[in-house]
Amino acid sequence: MQSPAPYPAARMRRLRRTRALREMVQENGLSAGDLIWPVFIRDGDGVEEPIASLPGVNRLSLDRLLPAAERALVLGIPAICLFPYTAQELRTEDCAEAWNPDNLTNRAIRMLKAELPELMVMTDIALDPYNANGHDGFVVDGQIVNDETVEALVKMGLAQADAGADILGPSDMMDGRIGALRSALEAAGHADVAILSYAAKFASGFYGPFRDAVGAGTRLVGDKATYQINPANREEALACVARDLSEGADMVMVKPGMPYLDICRAVKDRFARPTFAYQVSGEYAMLMAAAQNGWLDGDKVMLESLMSFKRAGCDGVLTYFAPRVAEALRK
Ligand code: PBG
Repeated sequence: MQSPAPYPAARMRRLRRTRALREMVQENGLSAGDLIWPVFIRDGDGVEEPIASLPGVNRLSLDRLLPAAERALVLGIPAICLFPYTAQELRTEDCAEAWNPDNLTNRAIRMLKAELPELMVMTDIALDPYNANGHDGFVVDGQIVNDETVEALVKMGLAQADAGADILGPSDMMDGRIGALRSALEAAGHADVAILSYAAKFASGFYGPFRDAVGAGTRLVGDKATYQINPANREEALACVARDLSEGADMVMVKPGMPYLDICRAVKDRFARPTFAYQVSGEYAMLMAAAQNGWLDGDKVMLESLMSFKRAGCDGVLTYFAPRVAEALRK
């Protein structure tokens, strides 16, 4: 890298003088096309149910999901990601609702692909919205069992692919899930269904509001430290990304986002594959809470936080701010 000439030959402020000059030399860009919008869905009709810990985010019944998805498409957002709030009686220890072809998520996928085929539909693969105890895997004698869970996750993913999902997002952190899912998809004639692996997913405190949103928080017995990555570990996260890519993941994700930008940069530099970050519920909640108190300028920090992902090498970001960002970028 050529270092700048000594002052006063180089004055860094010369190129910051006007807006036009600043735009000419801007290194990274943020556009609606970089965004994936996570949406919470629930049963019912005409329902838009607020989530206290996620101001501005609602659980939507399917009739309300459709206009919201249409708005996202019009705003240039390429994909939405569905997260179900499962009815209480369907949360069981065997998690059978997860692979029911007519469960809420699969009905939502069919509706969206019929009405808005250009909008990419992403799903989440993990048992937590269906599990009586809030875990991403089956619990046997207090342990989260790996291989039995992988079999269930494959059934869940196949049902989503059958319903028409474009992108599957395994978020469970079991070992071997990507390879098992990829070969099952091939065998079932779903060769073109993409996998965006939650590859570097840390055992984070920032998922709290999400667990409220899907109703898994109060049920969770213990924590997820036996399957999600220790926040202190960078090399382990990179090993998980390498492993998932080698098993057939098309895209990889780092999650949470802002506290893990170093991981985003390392993943992009080392693997040079499509890399996403998830700006998770707790990150959204922090910014919204401060903005609601008048302590931060909400739009400004929203856009700045998203630009940080682009600067860190991400190709795109899952964010609850997606429609608001797309609207702000239009102005
Ligand atoms: C479930 C899942 C979680 C998130 C996405 N999928 C929560 C968890 O692992 O406990 C978190 C998303 C967010 O916090 O916004 N496997």
